[in-house]
Amino acid sequence: MKFNPNVLDCAAAPIAEAWSWVKNPASKNLIDMCQAVPAHLPPQSLRDYLGDAIKAGEGATYTDIRGIPPLREALAGNISERYQGSVNEADVLITAGCNQAFCSVVDTLCHEGDEIIVPLPCYFNHQMWLTTRAVTPRYLSFNAATAMPDPEEARGLINARTRAILLVTPNNPSGAIYDHECIEAFFELACEHGLALIVDETYRDFIDIDSVPHKLFARSDWRDTFVHLYSFSKVFSLTGFRTGAVVASQSLLDQLKKIQDCTAICAPHAGQLAALYGLQNLHDWKIEKSDELAQRAIAIKAAFSHPDLKYRLVSAGAYFAYIEHPFEAPARDVVKRLIQEQEIVCLPGSYFGQEQEQFIRFAFANVHESHFEDVIGRLIASQ
Ligand SMILES: Cc1ncc(COP(=O)(O)O)c(C=O)c1O
Repeated sequence: MKFNPNVLDCAAAPIAEAWSWVKNPASKNLIDMCQAVPAHLPPQSLRDYLGDAIKAGEGATYTDIRGIPPLREALAGNISERYQGSVNEADVLITAGCNQAFCSVVDTLCHEGDEIIVPLPCYFNHQMWLTTRAVTPRYLSFNAATAMPDPEEARGLINARTRAILLVTPNNPSGAIYDHECIEAFFELACEHGLALIVDETYRDFIDIDSVPHKLFARSDWRDTFVHLYSFSKVFSLTGFRTGAVVASQSLLDQLKKIQDCTAICAPHAGQLAALYGLQNLHDWKIEKSDELAQRAIAIKAAFSHPDLKYRLVSAGAYFAYIEHPFEAPARDVVKRLIQEQEIVCLPGSYFGQEQEQFIRFAFANVHESHFEDVIGRLIASQ
């Protein structure tokens, strides 16, 4: 049997590789900052609601390809309020998580050989999917001083094969939160060249809940250019329920529906019920969790100001801290040593694209701030 060479070219899933370096996965001394997962279960009220709904026979059937109407309506309302913009139920398609949303959007926009502009560092699953589809990522360099991509650099990469510009904000892996001007400038550039601006906002609930993440949804022309990707995984601790969304023009969603129908048919029905319950009932819970993470980001920034520490915090926000290590060694070797000698499980920057050998990623959402002093002590011991 022969395999698709594009899939053979694709890197293996990185989380498993990092865990393969752990000598004793049961060790109580391990500090796990490897994968971006919420540190808590969904609240009891959601679990009770879902248990009762399933017992009553709900959730067992397919739904509309685009998802259940009340969830689409609730998400449209949530976005309109948060972004002070205008989004309708018809602009929303519910997916089996944000990863599937990204894959389906790429398949809707791109043909083999087309190009997407991708800032470095980038989320490894995005890169992996582009490889399997033979879509070429054109990378924007990483500015370790600002952790923000440069729209003018992107302008120089646009050609006849370019289909889209991809942003992730708050960013995985850097934790950087792109400002309004940056996002707006990418929108204008995409608009000028008839490209899609895809923005993955999986972590948007973990930045100041009273702030507007960007103003694109307030523009009357957003649907011509903007494609918003969202996840219910982190906000309501529903990673296993596989629920996310694409918010875009009806003309894009009409095409994307064909892919959704062939791959998932619909997002998991139980996940959709859980997400709807969350949007309707868990506003306060969400704020509490978001505040906890904001505190954690402040705490990790403070912890890295230790005078004896040679590791430098480049950026931190939402779930992540991106750290410059002090060694002249590949990031993989540095991380392997941190895992095996210091029992800090984290990921090398090299998993997040080229030119990232000097960096490592901590997914600090998994670890209470009371452990940060210990983390810094171990980093100093590794120097
Ligand atoms: C940027 C980004 N997009 C998407 C995902 C996946 O989200 P989901 O669980 O909704 O597929 C993640 C998860 O780590 C992520 O970091």
